[in-house]
Amino acid sequence: MCNSCSVLFVCLGNICRSPAGEGLLQHSIDTYKLQGTIKIDSAGTIGYHSGKPADHRMRNAALNRGIPLLSLSRKITVEDLHSFNLIIAMDRENLADIQRMAPHPTAKLNLLSDFLGDDWPSDVPDPYYGGDDGFEYVLDMIEAACPSIIDSISSLNDPDQ
Ligand code: 4NP
Repeated sequence: MCNSCSVLFVCLGNICRSPAGEGLLQHSIDTYKLQGTIKIDSAGTIGYHSGKPADHRMRNAALNRGIPLLSLSRKITVEDLHSFNLIIAMDRENLADIQRMAPHPTAKLNLLSDFLGDDWPSDVPDPYYGGDDGFEYVLDMIEAACPSIIDSISSLNDPDQ
């Protein structure tokens, strides 16, 4: 098990999908009382919402599942690509934007859908302009991916060793 690993979720605005990723993975890790220190954070590829809490619709949907989302939006930095062990992009556009920031990141880059079976879509759909069901779908998709993300964290190289 990686004892001091770090995971960064990334979406466009860092107010809907990636805060949900951060909150749900933290909840899974707390629930299973995993050993070691795993740092979990989230960021957006745009800084438009910097400093703002997650969208109230996303916070309400997560809270209905017993999970508070406490993050404040921030824009991803080049340093993140070298300081986090694993970066999980919510959709292919987010991934392409991240890849353009640094040609040789030390972080492992994945799509959230890499942790899901083929019956899920490649992209976590952006819920921002849609109805409540879009927020529920984002949570369903992230919840389904968490076990496989935790397996993957377990097999990451420990940066302290
Ligand atoms: P997110 O959703 O990328 O999941 O945080 C969005 C939030 C804000 C905007 C777009 C998507 N926006 O255009 O402001």
